[in-house]
Amino acid sequence: MHLTGLKGMPRRVFTYPGHVGWDWLNLISTVGAFVMAAGFLVFVVDLLRPKRTKIGDRNPWGAGTLEWSLDLEDDNWGVRSIPHIETRYPLWQQPKLVERMDAGRFYLLGARHYDSACRVCHGAPGVTQGATVRAMLPAPPPIGDAVRDWRPNELGWIVREGVKMSGMPGWPSARNDEVWPVVAFLTRVRGMRPEHYAALVGPATAEGPPGFGSCAGCHGIDGLSGNERIPRLDIQTPDYLEMALLTYRDGRRQSGYMRHAASAVPAETLRPLAQRFGRLSDATARGAGQAARAAGSGAAGAAGASDDPVEEGRRLAFALDRRRDLPACHSCHGPDAERRRPDTPSLSGQYRGYLETQLILWRDGLRGGGPRAELMSEAARRLNDDHIAALAACYSSLAPEVPAAGGAAN
Ligand code: HEC
Ligand code: HEC
Ligand code: HEC
Repeated sequence: MHLTGLKGMPRRVFTYPGHVGWDWLNLISTVGAFVMAAGFLVFVVDLLRPKRTKIGDRNPWGAGTLEWSLDLEDDNWGVRSIPHIETRYPLWQQPKLVERMDAGRFYLLGARHYDSACRVCHGAPGVTQGATVRAMLPAPPPIGDAVRDWRPNELGWIVREGVKMSGMPGWPSARNDEVWPVVAFLTRVRGMRPEHYAALVGPATAEGPPGFGSCAGCHGIDGLSGNERIPRLDIQTPDYLEMALLTYRDGRRQSGYMRHAASAVPAETLRPLAQRFGRLSDATARGAGQAARAAGSGAAGAAGASDDPVEEGRRLAFALDRRRDLPACHSCHGPDAERRRPDTPSLSGQYRGYLETQLILWRDGLRGGGPRAELMSEAARRLNDDHIAALAACYSSLAPEVPAAGGAAN
């Protein structure tokens, strides 16, 4: 328009004679006007369209640095699972890192166990050994020295077997799968800064019965550990939790972590601790369970042949598939509390990794428990690995029976 002006075109005319040489310049201006109008239109549409309220994906740009691993919506910043990082762009270098962090595969569990079971003898970053311990023969080496010469598989062996004819104890359960979080911690402990160690193992600060702070360090103050190896407690009744604690304590149920933790507190605090963590009373379970069943029944009935592990799990759990010689898990565990006895846990909403581990233990005869544990062993005897994966996927995807979070926490 500037050029047409220079060529003598007056302003504010709507037409002009064809031979004066303004045609091309005017055509360009017209096209430009339409392009600008289209741009404004996009802006207006964007202004008026309804907005999604959900925050976007956790890593929409495929970025490589660690802060993108976090789930945004009221996530508790990186406290339960501290990954091992060696490069500046860990998410690019280790494609499965986020999955592993979510699964809690890193060493928090090991660090917490170390602090309560091993520190007395070996000290810790920022914690020196006592004089009496140093007078032992052989003396327990400070932990930095103790781990120096060993590779992870060897450390696994040492932690499981102990060192005969010395004060070094073996793992207090017959299980082979438990020592690895401790080994993960031991591979990191050399050169760990004291404040890092203190942050890992500091007690949770929340009110509760004696010992609650240390339980909550692993299980979370509301029983939601956020770690696949550490089960949710908020979905169970206090009766079940108390029974579990008693069976850990006397060794009927095998777990080195929990045998240690349950015998580190006075027996009379087990009941109050179970009450503190078990958010589910029988009454709320019943109400919430009915709602969940109403919501879930349609999908269960429609289960056809499909490869989806959740569907496959549903068929097994409800015994919809009569050809297999497997018991219906729901007849004891229910999708809800109606048919469940106090010694039978709720499975809906439990962590998938934990369910898988427990089912493998049951099947392999490595898990004991309360008075009816035999029945559960029997139920798991014929499960193969695919059944187990499907059942764990199915139960972990069901809505937990707890009342909406928030109210009972703290
Ligand atoms: C009652 C004291 C005591 C406790 C508790 C204890 N240890 Fe030891 N530990 C020892 C002693 C003593 C040795 C030295 C054995 C030797 O030199 O033969 C040792 C050795 C070790 C070694 C090095 C083995 C070697 O031969 O070099 C490692 C690793 C170790 N302990 C890890 C642990 C871990 C992990 C825990 C907790 C699960 C733990 N210890 C609990 C006393 C203890
Ligand atoms: C070092 C971490 C750690 C500490 C501390 C700890 N727990 Fe656990 N807890 C675990 C792990 C891991 C399991 C799963 C054990 C298994 O495989 O059977 C578990 C399992 C349990 C279970 C069984 C849940 C179920 O569904 O069967 C109960 C109940 C429990 N813990 C309560 C407690 C209480 C109460 C305390 C405090 C006295 C406590 N825990 C301290 C790690 C811990
Ligand atoms: C005869 C009743 C019965 C049947 C059928 C049954 N269970 Fe169980 N289950 C139990 C009891 C009782 C326990 C608790 C045992 C204990 O710890 O003392 C249990 C415990 C469990 C646990 C451990 C949960 C935890 O928090 O530690 C899992 C997982 C489980 N059952 C899954 C299943 C699956 C999957 C099926 C179907 C294949 C099934 N059960 C069938 C009675 C049963």
